[in-house]
Amino acid sequence: MSRKTQAYFAIVLLALLLVVVALDPRTPAYRSSYDPQASAREVAQWAEDIKAWPRSPTWEKFRQPETVSEPDFEGSYIFGKYDYRVDVQIRGDHIHYISWGNDDQENGGAWYSVGEGRRQDNGEWFSVWSCLDISRAVSNGGGAWFHFSKDRKRIHVRYYHDTLPFGENPIELGEAVRVDLEPGREMSGDRHSVIMDSAWGARPLEGRVRTRVPTVAMPEGAKFVIWGRVVDDRGEGIDGAAVKRRASGAIDAVTDSRGFFRLEFDKLEALLLLAAGKLGYMNGILTLEQDRAFSAIGPKRESEKVALATIVLRPMDRVDHAEYEWVSPEYLPRPDYDVAEHLNCGNCHRREYDDWRESRHATMARNPWTRAAFERDAKPAAVARGSNVDECTPCHSPSLAAKLHGYHLDGATLLDAKGVDLHGNHCDFCHKIEAVTVPEAPGMNGSIRLLRPDPKDDTVPGNVKRVFGPLPDVSFLYMGAGYNPIFEMGVLCASCHEHQRDDGLHSQSTYSEWRQTRFSRPGNDYKECQSCHMPPYTAGKLRAIPGPDGNPQMVNIGGDLTGNELKNNGVAIARYSTRYRPLNEAHKHSFVGTEDRDFLTSGVSMEVETERLTDGLRVRVTVTNTGAGHAIPTGHGLKHYIVAIHATGDGQALPPGESLPADERVNAADGATEGIVIGRRFADATGQSWALPWWRADKIAADNRLWPDMPQEYVFDIAGADAAEVKLILRRGSPGLLREHGMDTSHGRVGADALDVLVHTAKVTR
Ligand code: HEC
Ligand code: HEC
Ligand code: HEC
Ligand code: HEC
Ligand code: HEC
Repeated sequence: MSRKTQAYFAIVLLALLLVVVALDPRTPAYRSSYDPQASAREVAQWAEDIKAWPRSPTWEKFRQPETVSEPDFEGSYIFGKYDYRVDVQIRGDHIHYISWGNDDQENGGAWYSVGEGRRQDNGEWFSVWSCLDISRAVSNGGGAWFHFSKDRKRIHVRYYHDTLPFGENPIELGEAVRVDLEPGREMSGDRHSVIMDSAWGARPLEGRVRTRVPTVAMPEGAKFVIWGRVVDDRGEGIDGAAVKRRASGAIDAVTDSRGFFRLEFDKLEALLLLAAGKLGYMNGILTLEQDRAFSAIGPKRESEKVALATIVLRPMDRVDHAEYEWVSPEYLPRPDYDVAEHLNCGNCHRREYDDWRESRHATMARNPWTRAAFERDAKPAAVARGSNVDECTPCHSPSLAAKLHGYHLDGATLLDAKGVDLHGNHCDFCHKIEAVTVPEAPGMNGSIRLLRPDPKDDTVPGNVKRVFGPLPDVSFLYMGAGYNPIFEMGVLCASCHEHQRDDGLHSQSTYSEWRQTRFSRPGNDYKECQSCHMPPYTAGKLRAIPGPDGNPQMVNIGGDLTGNELKNNGVAIARYSTRYRPLNEAHKHSFVGTEDRDFLTSGVSMEVETERLTDGLRVRVTVTNTGAGHAIPTGHGLKHYIVAIHATGDGQALPPGESLPADERVNAADGATEGIVIGRRFADATGQSWALPWWRADKIAADNRLWPDMPQEYVFDIAGADAAEVKLILRRGSPGLLREHGMDTSHGRVGADALDVLVHTAKVTR
């Protein structure tokens, strides 16, 4: 070969090399698809934020290595460019790691994360990672494949972020080098010099690499087929487990008696996130990469591509640990935010928190009327009967009740609730309910079975350790989520909304009322309590309105979703969390009830007709329960409906008749001529009264409540009347009872609530 040809070859080779270098996304020259550098001020803030990482909720095995078994291997690794640190522990086939760092690109920040996984048959380690964004107090998550070099001095990593909508650009590649540091401890000195000194040189971790194939469709008539099995950690098949693709909107399959399932799809995402859950186990998840998973096995047929999937579920510890400390629901805005309290539910579940905070569940332990009713009435009445049983705390301060060993009037009661317990029925409490064993028993006293985790359990990072929920596809490690179908069933609510005393008296029967209606039966009308009281969030529409600077601004009108959610056609159930989910996977936590006017009026209608009498007016009032899935007013008999008629003759108010008890003619019913109270009237040895509460009653004397679709007609003949105003009033409690409890209702209020809500009014004339 002549020198000329050699030179020619060298040039071609060099050019090729340059092309390779330019195209190879893993070389430093690769321009990341991330955003540009953030402002200097932000970068400085984040550098400050990351200093808090050692206080992050984590696995104790990294904070206090002495407390758990020695790992078979541990090491610290660092990625290039951003100094991301990864500390790894391996025990047998299991890998755990913690990782933290700063990302100084636009939308970057300081973060801390944990990962957990196991070795795959091909020698790679697949793990799920879950991240706490320290700069914004929110979350993030995804998965990763680790491939260690033989001497374990380097890890080649493929990370994916689950935040992205459906499969676009999901993968980040990088390589980390082992550094000589004590795992779990911060390094000192210049980070960059550590990497530069390393003989290996690290490739940067940056940029999302396009998969180019977000979803892959099979040709007409052909299918992707997944043969799968759900097993426990000993490899035994689990029957009846729910199998679901992440955010698919429905359970895709249920396993057979040996734990097998089969799924078929016409098209699939490049990354298929397949999860499974069953009550008693923590949810498990598996990620199938389209091109790898479906090429390995089975006969090569045109009509199908087959993949195998094994999902492992870890059984839950079945002991309820009373020493577990409730995690606060409260969202902590800066500057109150503290990384050690990052797992306060409201930080990440802001929408649920904002809604719940307005609900009666949030205020029930502080409710001034309930406290007064307990202190001035229920307690002395019980003592007078010679009873020491506290009948109220098990429902009204459930998270305090959960710490008690019995419900005694001379022990701790709802008046002693402090701290988290003052938040009533809070997120952590309700989401640690495993079962409702005896619906008619009162709350924590025999109805609710909690399964609180062992605070020392190090298989789940952080202090929440466990939540039960409706979604088997939640794999965020800090949640320790376990699928529990009871969250979609009314029996969960029955634990407090159904109560039968030992002597048989139903103090509360909302659940058994529901069971008698068409709403509890299969068919078009079927609706659980949640369907009406926890409906899905609504989308709304983006509209341009003039902004403060005069420029148009896009605003969501008539819906609950943010602009980003609308754009991505879904809803995020945790901030910056995982995938946008279809609307049917996110439920309003305002527990809408009679405080909401629209909701209230949707439940009941009123029609009024009149007839001339020779001497006055006949008023015919028809009231119908048009939308409640139980009798109304439901609950424990304190609330009543009142039909009140204010009649006039020749413009003069007429004197009151006999039909409406004098004591009820106050506030919205003040001066009423005639009327009727609708509800349950209790009786004791001395007689019956609307002002008698169930806790002092012997029996129910009358029940004239409204059942769904059964119109109730009331007829009033009013002598001397030529016109009338008819009101349907929802009254919070009888004035007589409220007086006994020392509640001042003269301003039309019961504590912070209205005494009366005017539901409907109608004016009629002769
Ligand atoms: C650091 C952020 C973060 C905090 C704090 C947090 N969560 Fe979550 N939570 C998540 C993420 C992420 C998911 C999963 C989202 C997804 O998969 O779409 C989730 C899911 C859930 C689910 C659904 C579980 C299922 O299987 O249906 C429940 C219930 C839940 N969280 C309750 C709580 C409670 C209660 C608290 C407070 C004790 C809490 N969360 C605190 C991030 C958080
Ligand atoms: C079909 C829809 C529907 C179903 C199912 C349903 N509710 Fe209701 N619920 C309503 C409506 C509407 C109201 C308001 C009633 C009114 O206008 O007085 C209501 C009122 C209530 C109230 C407030 C009581 C009051 O008088 O202020 C409670 C508590 C309640 N429901 C609990 C439950 C529970 C628990 C379940 C399940 C056992 C349930 N609901 C099932 C629609 C429903
Ligand atoms: C009265 C019990 C109760 C309380 C209190 C409660 N939840 Fe829930 N939560 C539920 C139920 C029931 C569902 C499932 C609803 C369904 O699927 O129909 C649910 C679902 C969820 C989900 C899964 C997504 C969804 O909306 O279905 C998340 C996340 C969640 N709750 C978080 C929270 C947080 C955060 C709080 C406190 C701010 C909270 N919950 C308070 C009962 C409760
Ligand atoms: C731990 C007990 C407990 C559980 C579980 C519970 N609730 Fe409640 N709920 C209460 C109490 C107590 C109140 C009344 C609080 C108050 O008024 O101070 C209440 C109030 C309500 C209200 C408001 C009624 C009104 O006045 O408008 C609604 C609606 C409601 N609950 C629905 C539900 C639903 C639906 C579920 C199941 C998903 C549920 N609750 C589970 C205890 C509970
Ligand atoms: C089985 C659970 C349960 C028990 C036990 C219970 N409550 Fe309630 N309580 C509720 C629920 C649910 C509501 C709201 C339902 C409704 O609208 O009537 C409520 C509402 C109330 C209210 C009305 C609050 C308001 O602002 O409208 C008072 C007062 C009250 N309870 C007092 C008591 C007292 C006192 C005791 C003990 C003698 C007691 N409760 C025992 C579940 C319970």
